[in-house]
Amino acid sequence: MSQLEKTILVTGGAGFIGNHVVRRLVKNYPHYKVINLDALTYAGNLENVADVADAPNYSFVKADITELEEVRGVFAVYNPDIIIHLAAESHVDRSIEDPLVFVKTNLMGTATLLQAAKEVWNGQYDGKLFYHVSTDEVYGSLGETGFFVETTPYDPRSPYSASKAGSDHLVRAWGHTYGMPIVLSNCSNNYGPYQFPEKLLPLFINNIKHLKPLPVYGKGINVRDWLYVEDHARAIDVILHEGKHGETYNIGGHNEYRNIDLIHLLCEVMDAKLGRDPGTSAGLITYVTDRAGHDMRYAIDATKLQNELGWTPSLEFREGLEKTIDWYLGNEEWMEQVTSGAYQKYYEKMYGDA
Ligand code: NAD
Ligand code: DAU
Repeated sequence: MSQLEKTILVTGGAGFIGNHVVRRLVKNYPHYKVINLDALTYAGNLENVADVADAPNYSFVKADITELEEVRGVFAVYNPDIIIHLAAESHVDRSIEDPLVFVKTNLMGTATLLQAAKEVWNGQYDGKLFYHVSTDEVYGSLGETGFFVETTPYDPRSPYSASKAGSDHLVRAWGHTYGMPIVLSNCSNNYGPYQFPEKLLPLFINNIKHLKPLPVYGKGINVRDWLYVEDHARAIDVILHEGKHGETYNIGGHNEYRNIDLIHLLCEVMDAKLGRDPGTSAGLITYVTDRAGHDMRYAIDATKLQNELGWTPSLEFREGLEKTIDWYLGNEEWMEQVTSGAYQKYYEKMYGDA
């Protein structure tokens, strides 16, 4: 195999961020074989990768990262050089309702992958890499000032973020103890096409379209740093190729919004796009009980990634938001498919009449 040829196994490639990573690798690197390993939970959907399904350098394999024998079997067949690990339980609200599945998937799943990689690589680490995709939530919650840097001490506060923090530690432990080549990145809130409508933006876009209430947690003053998902996928590409092994890179949009300000902007843009009177969508805003343990503010300092690897976000937020809204409005079938069935029960349980 030439140095240029690589087999890259992406876990969670049928999920929101994973599909953008898979698409980017399949299209930009025809000499790479891209294997998408996904269990297809409620959050995974093969429609998300339908446009690359027939590409000659793409394969899908349905497997559960918590099942060692299944993972061993996949590794034996494909013998990956690189693992980009995105598969996870990813929604904070679900982690509050049902934490154990987060511990299982995010901790046991990550350890299982690490162990299977260690076995298949068997100490021959030349050209190998385990790339772990993580979140800014591992650093905890900020007050009004300051930013998370790569050396900020971990202080996770939800079952989701604690399980992600633990998974980061596991990856570093395999790197330190067994000499496995690893790299990690911790990113802020992503938005864009193909996000499951349990997360703020697709949920609110869908509710606005159907003139349903917009459930704002607490006072709506929590702050998040928003990054367009394709910019995250591009950062992963850069770190994959240029990142220093053993290092961690923070990825962020330098784009902080209080939830309520973001929601008002969304309402304004959607009123215009839907040809509704200004103020129609804002009239749907409904303040509901706050999320338990709701982190107040996340803000990423991505200077290291910018200075060392030259990555910066490419889209202005307004442009990214418009693209995102246009995508959801133009992909009604996708939305209908993912909101049928179990979604209705989830919605009822989380939001009742709101
Ligand atoms: P997602 O919930 O949309 O997708 C997760 C994917 O993982 C789904 O396709 C699902 O089927 C798969 N999966 C879940 N359990 C699995 C298992 N046991 N075995 C195999 N596959 C399984 O998540 P996302 O938003 O795309 O996030 C991807 C990764 O990026 C996660 O690790 C998340 O922690 C991290 N992250 C997300 C964000 C964000 O804003 N969404 C920001 C920073 C980091
Ligand atoms: O920061 C990165 C993280 O961003 C990722 O690691 C997570 O996987 C991803 O889900 C996201 O976590 P958040 O909890 O920040 O995202 P969410 O879209 O759930 O919520 C964004 C903000 O909006 C948060 O302050 C809670 C609030 N919110 C959310 C929902 C779903 C509401 O006010 N109402 C809602 O109905």
